[in-house]
Amino acid sequence: MRTQVVIIGGGPSGLLLGQLLHTQGIEAVVLERKTRDYVLGRIRAGILERGLIGLMHKAGVGERLAREGFVHDGTIISYGDEDFTINFKDHTNTSVVVYGQTEVTRDLYDAREAAGLPTVFNTQEVQIHGADTDSAHVTYQVNGETHRIDCDFIAGCDGFHGVSRQTIPLGLRKEYEKVYPFGWLGILSETPPVNDELIYAASERGFALCSMRNQNLSRYYIQCALTDTVEDWSDEAFWEELKRRIPKSHADKLVTGPSIEKSIAPLRSFVTEPMRWGRLFLCGDAAHIVPPTGAKGLNTAASDIHYLFEGLKAHYLESDSAALDAYSEKALARVWKAERFSWWMTKLLHRFPDQTEFDLKMQKAEIDFLRSNREAQSVLAQNYIGLPY
Ligand code: APR
Ligand code: PHB
Repeated sequence: MRTQVVIIGGGPSGLLLGQLLHTQGIEAVVLERKTRDYVLGRIRAGILERGLIGLMHKAGVGERLAREGFVHDGTIISYGDEDFTINFKDHTNTSVVVYGQTEVTRDLYDAREAAGLPTVFNTQEVQIHGADTDSAHVTYQVNGETHRIDCDFIAGCDGFHGVSRQTIPLGLRKEYEKVYPFGWLGILSETPPVNDELIYAASERGFALCSMRNQNLSRYYIQCALTDTVEDWSDEAFWEELKRRIPKSHADKLVTGPSIEKSIAPLRSFVTEPMRWGRLFLCGDAAHIVPPTGAKGLNTAASDIHYLFEGLKAHYLESDSAALDAYSEKALARVWKAERFSWWMTKLLHRFPDQTEFDLKMQKAEIDFLRSNREAQSVLAQNYIGLPY
């Protein structure tokens, strides 16, 4: 079998690329290791920058997002019982939209199926061959049977644990990593959100985040030790701890209920360079990871897809490969800025085990500065709503 682009990974990166290519008549096959239901069962963040929203519309899948997404003009930052608002709209004339990554992925799968585009699920032993030659191809197994697809290009959209990045010879890539000494314990509950806007809460007991999916679905997180397990945290213990980390005015209003999902995620910053090797292009989590503080994971994956899509479009429609050749450099320039912002927000709001009293004073001074300085708020707002592509 032959196609123009093999997309490895049917997460949001791979599916968005697939839909965008389809609008230009460029053929692609998506290979996904799991099933659609498995992919849709993963709970991830849910803040969409204007850039991703634009891409969803460009891909023809923005309708439900426009109807059901919640526009957020700002966010609350708190420290102990004190809080203040960063108004994105005032500083940037732009907002973000709350719409779960699961819904983004569902809309993309629905559109892919409606258009009859090929997706192969349950693929095993996916291997990339000849990425640095003119005869690139991908092999994989389904139910023990081996298949081969020849292609012009391969989009490695297979997440942090995928095969694509590992295919690039070690001597040709460099990895940058920072592992944080804590995780986030998150729960989803069918309760009304404690506040209209998100609350990013710093406290003496550690970080907490109040987020939501809709009027009766809340998403809350608390910073936890890496040694903690989900079994260590009953729902009651979670709610008690959350209340102690957010301002009392909000804690008093918090509606609690049984969790319908509970999980722990470690925090990591990671970038691999370059993001291209011959005919293989890395996108999204396959190339970089951010800690969730600031909600940049999905949005940074989306900007990669924008650059790759524009590159492939110019290559196929105008026989111009300049944009494709600039992919790694362009994507990385934006990736590093998102890495910086996520790292900065993480440092600003979390408790670190080795923090000295001096470090704590610095953290408090930085939050005070942010509370009182318009320019500092503007910097946060510009990064949060998303830097331009
Ligand atoms: N072959 C085929 N598919 C694979 C393989 C493989 N060898 N390895 C992994 N996959 C699939 C995974 O099952 C998953 O569905 O690739 C997909 C990658 O999806 P994500 O991990 O969601 O990564 P990505 O699409 O880049 O999405 C960006 O933004 O908010 C963040 O981390 C969050 O997932 C999110 C990401
Ligand atoms: C979420 O709603 O899951 C969420 C929101 C903002 C973040 C991280 C996660 O920074």
